[in-house]
Amino acid sequence: MALRGKVLVFDSGMGGLTVAREISGLAPDVAVDYAADNGFFPYGDKSDAALQARLPGLAAKLVHASGPDVFVIACNTASTLALEAVRARLDIPVVGTVPAIKPAAAQSQSRRIGLLATPGTIRRAYTAELVREFASDVGVFMHGSIDLVHLAERQAAGEAVPLQAFRQALEPLFNQPGAGAIDTLVLACTHFPLIRGELAAAVPHPVSFIDSGEAIARQTLRQLGSGGRESEGGRVFLTGAPETSDRLVEVCRRFGFGTVTCLVHH
Ligand code: DGL
Repeated sequence: MALRGKVLVFDSGMGGLTVAREISGLAPDVAVDYAADNGFFPYGDKSDAALQARLPGLAAKLVHASGPDVFVIACNTASTLALEAVRARLDIPVVGTVPAIKPAAAQSQSRRIGLLATPGTIRRAYTAELVREFASDVGVFMHGSIDLVHLAERQAAGEAVPLQAFRQALEPLFNQPGAGAIDTLVLACTHFPLIRGELAAAVPHPVSFIDSGEAIARQTLRQLGSGGRESEGGRVFLTGAPETSDRLVEVCRRFGFGTVTCLVHH
């Protein structure tokens, strides 16, 4: 099949694979490389300063290695902090991932939505701005959980994680007064679609889930247009040491990525 250009999908770990899957699902003729900063995983509990210092330089290095037409930051934690700084550093289009607060607020019947993300995303000014702009007439219940990010990676790697672990991780969200009325839950971390089924089984009452995966995929394809060069995809770039990357490599393979390159980044 003739490929119509290449995108590089980037995350701290396995979460961005959910976005890569959406892109390939919509456009099988687009080549996709994947990059994970697993040497600095997880992002959600890192300081803003540490991520701001790291992301633009790392993005430049990864783009140099992969040679994509579009760079996709498939990570809410990174995008809500450093999207503009990464854009300023790269000379190709950059697509970011932000919490799907707008569609959630638009569809909620009960006018109560939940926002499940990393602690970093929850405390961002960017997130507060999205709530102000699109959900000011809606009750927004938030919870930032690093536990869920780790649980998602374990579950995706095939470990049998007990349902109780997911229930416990969700308690601080649903124990908030009024949270019983939440009817729409925003998965504002790209790791969480990996455990959508487990979350659906663990929530105390039925809710509908929303994530930004498909919207990011569509935006990526708009940026790519029809003019990309023919290129090969399927490569994985990692920042972690090979001996600590086995699980991630295995999951990448399952999502269709093959050749692995380890890049050292300090
Ligand atoms: N997948 C990332 C996100 O969308 C963050 C996971 C992490 O904490 O590294 O926010």
